[in-house]
Amino acid sequence: MKEGCSVKNNLYFCLELLTQKLKLSMKRLFFIFSCLVSFVCASAQRANYDIIPLPKEVKADTTQFFTLTSGMGIAYDAANSESARIAAFLQTWVKEALGLQLALTPEAKKAPIRLALASPAQKGKKAKPAALTQQQKESYTLTVGKDGILISAFEPAGLFRAAETLRKSLPATGKASEHVELPFVTITDQPRFSYRGVLLDCGRHFFSVEFIKQFLDVMALHGCNQFHWHLTEDQGWRFEVKALPDLAKKGSIRERTVIGPARMNIYDNIPYGGYYTQEECREVVRYAAERYINVVPEVDMPGHMQSALHVFPNLGCTGGPYPVAVKWGVMRDVLCGGNPETLDFLKTVFGELCDVFPSPYIHIGGDECPKERWQKCPKCQAKIKELGLTSDPKTDGDGGRGSQDGRSAENKLQTFINHEIEQFLASRGRSIIGWDEILSGGLTEDAIVMSWRGTKGGVAAAKQKHRVIMSPNVFAYIDHPQLKDYGKQPRTTDSYIVSCSKMYSFEPLVPEELSSEESDYILGVQTNLWTEHVAYPEHALYQLLPRLGAMSEVQWCNPEQKDFENFKTRLPRLEKLYDKMGVVYCREVE
Ligand code: ACM
Ligand code: ZN
Repeated sequence: MKEGCSVKNNLYFCLELLTQKLKLSMKRLFFIFSCLVSFVCASAQRANYDIIPLPKEVKADTTQFFTLTSGMGIAYDAANSESARIAAFLQTWVKEALGLQLALTPEAKKAPIRLALASPAQKGKKAKPAALTQQQKESYTLTVGKDGILISAFEPAGLFRAAETLRKSLPATGKASEHVELPFVTITDQPRFSYRGVLLDCGRHFFSVEFIKQFLDVMALHGCNQFHWHLTEDQGWRFEVKALPDLAKKGSIRERTVIGPARMNIYDNIPYGGYYTQEECREVVRYAAERYINVVPEVDMPGHMQSALHVFPNLGCTGGPYPVAVKWGVMRDVLCGGNPETLDFLKTVFGELCDVFPSPYIHIGGDECPKERWQKCPKCQAKIKELGLTSDPKTDGDGGRGSQDGRSAENKLQTFINHEIEQFLASRGRSIIGWDEILSGGLTEDAIVMSWRGTKGGVAAAKQKHRVIMSPNVFAYIDHPQLKDYGKQPRTTDSYIVSCSKMYSFEPLVPEELSSEESDYILGVQTNLWTEHVAYPEHALYQLLPRLGAMSEVQWCNPEQKDFENFKTRLPRLEKLYDKMGVVYCREVE
């Protein structure tokens, strides 16, 4: 420190001295100081690899940097059109984040960013290459060194996940920048689970294709790869079936919607509707596929079918009439299990669903199907007799024969329907997924169980060597509030809170109950956004974010990597990107 300053020990005095010496006014000095600060800030546009979800391995050297500047090229693999599309995504994201304009080129030699598809290493020269697992297909290596950025993967899906990682590593400052510095790094990444899903209920409320695309963008940002599209509900049928045009036309519209608790019987008296044409569904499938997301369509049966019964009352046990439901909850009226027309109807619907959705999985619902009507229905009882189904008194303790649980003859009749549909879908090369109630009457051969009433159903299914997707309500239902103070958030399903930290703490392999062999049946994890109380896109995004960030680490990271306190320190950078994308999110985390 200079003598004059140390003697007076007064900052103002120092500045005065300096201005006198330099013959500058305080104003001009301040201007120079501001320029210096902005220069330092501008040159500090630096990438940071502390992203969400955290990659499997990050080896960074923060003493060396590669500088990315406008005009540099992104080279794609000329032999692979998908890599050109991924390069174009990256180009857009870099432009959005920093204003840097990069060029696309098939010329790898000249480009400092390269996307390369690599062949997996083979054991022996003659050995047939082993088929890649889903996780390997999405794995990648991202290296930053003196020559630039190299992204390498076995499949385009891996290139895409890497491009998202690079996007999240860049500063999303919103300030235009001439360059960005990337610390040298080697990132080696692979997701933990093959199935990383999000459900959007478009039955209770209808969401536009435009919003669904935004939803898919947000999913891709979090490394999710399965969009579970809940397309049919008691309160509205949303999927066009060309052979049954009235199904969507009439079944999609409810006359009014309950407001507040059901027992109060207060309605808005406004007709509500909307459905997706098959063309629109194909557009969603295409958009999702470009982001390496599979669309799993759900037609929920034999319960949650009142909108279909409205159009085809002959398919109900009582013959109707049935309105499209105007209240929330579990309806007594379900498809008749003994009427052969029910199976014809289902095969028509699932047939067209297969035409539109290439997904290897088709969700058949199966939840919340009370059996009261089936117990009294002559057709259902005749079918039970014909099939020789009997109630098992020892295991039928869960609420009697009308219950969805227990091995009652009626629950076995539901299994018979599942079996018929499973066979039908197998002939189209598809597997069924069902909610955990499908365990009650006995699982069909190939059924995948989606465990929602806790992890119990998933554990039981894995022990029976069936594939499982964990989606336990207390950890994964994001229609529930995320903050303790109900007053701080929009009204939702308010029976319990699913905070970010609660979601983050979920361990899907349930090690206390499953052996490591059994846990191999757990395909992955899904978060579910039911929409009884979520009618608008902004509200849907508020429910989703930032909880999807927490869920993405459950889906992607190994347990030893997870640390909620550390997650919270990484979240603000992701939130900057949410801001950039213009998506709403909850700004508090508990
Ligand atoms: C469900 O939440 N009824 C699957
Ligand atoms: Zn019946």
